[in-house]
Amino acid sequence: MKVNLSVSFCGRKLINPLFLTSGILGTEAELLKRVAGLGAGVVTTKSCCLEERKGHENPTVLAWECGIQNAVGLTNPGVEKEVIEIKNLKKLLKNKKTKICASFFGSTIKEFVLVTKKISQAEPDFLEMNISCPNTESELGLPFAFSAADTFKLTKAVKKETKIPVIVKLASQVTDIVAIAKAAEEAGADAVSAINTVPGMIIDIEAGAPILTNKIGGLSGPAIRPIAVKSIWQLAKSLKIPLIGMGGVTYGRDVIEMIMAGATGVGIGSATYFRGIDVFKKILKEVEVWMEKEKIVNLNQIRGKAL
Ligand SMILES: Cc1cc2nc3c(=O)[nH]c(=O)nc-3n(C[C@H](O)[C@H](O)[C@H](O)COP(=O)(O)O)c2cc1C
Repeated sequence: MKVNLSVSFCGRKLINPLFLTSGILGTEAELLKRVAGLGAGVVTTKSCCLEERKGHENPTVLAWECGIQNAVGLTNPGVEKEVIEIKNLKKLLKNKKTKICASFFGSTIKEFVLVTKKISQAEPDFLEMNISCPNTESELGLPFAFSAADTFKLTKAVKKETKIPVIVKLASQVTDIVAIAKAAEEAGADAVSAINTVPGMIIDIEAGAPILTNKIGGLSGPAIRPIAVKSIWQLAKSLKIPLIGMGGVTYGRDVIEMIMAGATGVGIGSATYFRGIDVFKKILKEVEVWMEKEKIVNLNQIRGKAL
């Protein structure tokens, strides 16, 4: 039996549903090319903004028994340099079917719009608006993803500036994720991704202080998987646009779970720390073995099965 892992996403054919999520392996074209060669269907660049950002002082990343805690502080070289990196990556991936998703953010709608214009010049396959990181504040001082009205205004403004499909990345720590996703959809978003990291803290009891320099960090990895699955399941019930489910996906069975919750794409981030950057190959093999066992030939057969 020959299983088919390809999926259609925002009018494009992906060789498989796996996305390298933003921020995990930075923005360097050479490293992203390696991940593409190791099986990712789409590679996402680290979120960039208008000007270079240095980020927080070390320690910024901490692995613990249930996942990762990070407060990198959105370190990035700024959009001008990012455009060059994406163009390089496009050249490196010329003969590959892996797609490129460029992630970006701003602290005001005006900044988001300027970055959209610039980053679109690199012509990535998809754009991902990071509106859900604690550092991506709206004019109100909170991330845009905390408010349906802010999400609507911002998405509408960004969509006007580009022809590239726009994915809106959501936060889980909100009162009603469905209302916010619907605001993005109504404003013209082509897809949504969920979830970004979840705020948390780990304290060193010998020092009597939080371990990360920034004190509060974003949790990722297996600890947040059920939150991510629940978010995708809720979104799939109400949205028409496709979803990318991310948060703690580590094994093939987690990919199946996300697709059964209604996801079209599935993000892999922290698993690269736990299982190595060839985790994409490993996960694809696990998915294939499961599909063969269950006599499933196409992922469309199980999408939304748990709804
Ligand atoms: C070290 C680190 C850096 C991250 N940087 C970004 C970023 O720049 N932009 C973004 O949208 N998400 C960022 N994320 C969030 C991930 O893209 C992803 O949404 C989250 O980690 C959940 O997936 P995972 O559990 O598979 O890692 C980062 C996560 C980690 C662990």
